[in-house]
Amino acid sequence: MTEQVVEVNGLWTRFGRHAVHRGIDVSVARGDVLSLVGGSGSGKTTLLRQMMGLERPSRGSVRVLGVDLHDCDPLVLRQLRNRWGVLFQEGALFSALTVFENVALPLEELHALDEELIRELVMMKLDMVGIEARHARKVPAELSGGMVKRVALARSLALEPELLFLDEPTAGLDPDRSESFVRLIEQLRHELNLTVVMVTHDLDTLVALSNRIAVLFDGRLVVVGTLREVVHSQHPFIVNFFLGERGRRALEAVWDTLGMGEAGMRPATQGGA
Ligand SMILES: Nc1ncnc2c1ncn2[C@@H]1O[C@H](COP(=O)(O)OP(=O)(O)OP(=O)(O)O)[C@@H](O)[C@H]1O
Ligand SMILES: [Mg+2]
Repeated sequence: MTEQVVEVNGLWTRFGRHAVHRGIDVSVARGDVLSLVGGSGSGKTTLLRQMMGLERPSRGSVRVLGVDLHDCDPLVLRQLRNRWGVLFQEGALFSALTVFENVALPLEELHALDEELIRELVMMKLDMVGIEARHARKVPAELSGGMVKRVALARSLALEPELLFLDEPTAGLDPDRSESFVRLIEQLRHELNLTVVMVTHDLDTLVALSNRIAVLFDGRLVVVGTLREVVHSQHPFIVNFFLGERGRRALEAVWDTLGMGEAGMRPATQGGA
């Protein structure tokens, strides 16, 4: 049987009188890459935060790695947090700490590893995300936006997580960096059987990485399925997001696998817009 790594059932999230989520059901199986899409302010980051136990549902439940986040021992929850990695939307490095110290932090918090091993692990993670050793002593203000993102990714990988939460991981990266990010995640997925839940507006990343997509609209997931299933939905948000000009360009490489049929729907490859 497939193991469900994340299971969200009947989730409601309210901030005061505003209900951001109004009955969300979604599960993520081990090895899946689930991408969450939806308009700005639709509640994508909040849904990720729910999956990490950083928000409290006003109704419903969230289980991660078999543990109900709101009905468990605080110690169990603390141990659970070491099994997932997080890359927040803003990159969020500690500005007073160096690159090295930022990535070392989660390892030091384990209080179980000696200095030498921590040093090796940190340098290995930095190498993995393409940050050269000479940048390790720099503070975040001395890095480019793309480098901050990659260091934050290195930190999220520090504890070799089984599950990774990524919020707009490629926003602000140039196309080359986005592509190498995609390759890195692919590689980790194969090596570690990593499960990923990712929020992204970047259609190229979305198409390249996700095997399932969930579309958040008006407090609900209007579709959860493969890219093929999602693009066949008639929902106006989806039509606009995936089948607008940018969407079609991103879908071009996989268009023939989507069963979209009619020539009129094909991305314009010549002479057109
Ligand atoms: N702590 C909070 N208190 C009150 N309202 C909040 C809080 N966090 C989020 N919200 C509201 O919840 C809604 C969803 O926010 P969220 O950050 O999840 O959106 P998003 O889909 O990630 O948007 P974006 O694409 O712009 O990042 C917004 O209306 C936001 O103002
Ligand atoms: Mg967000």
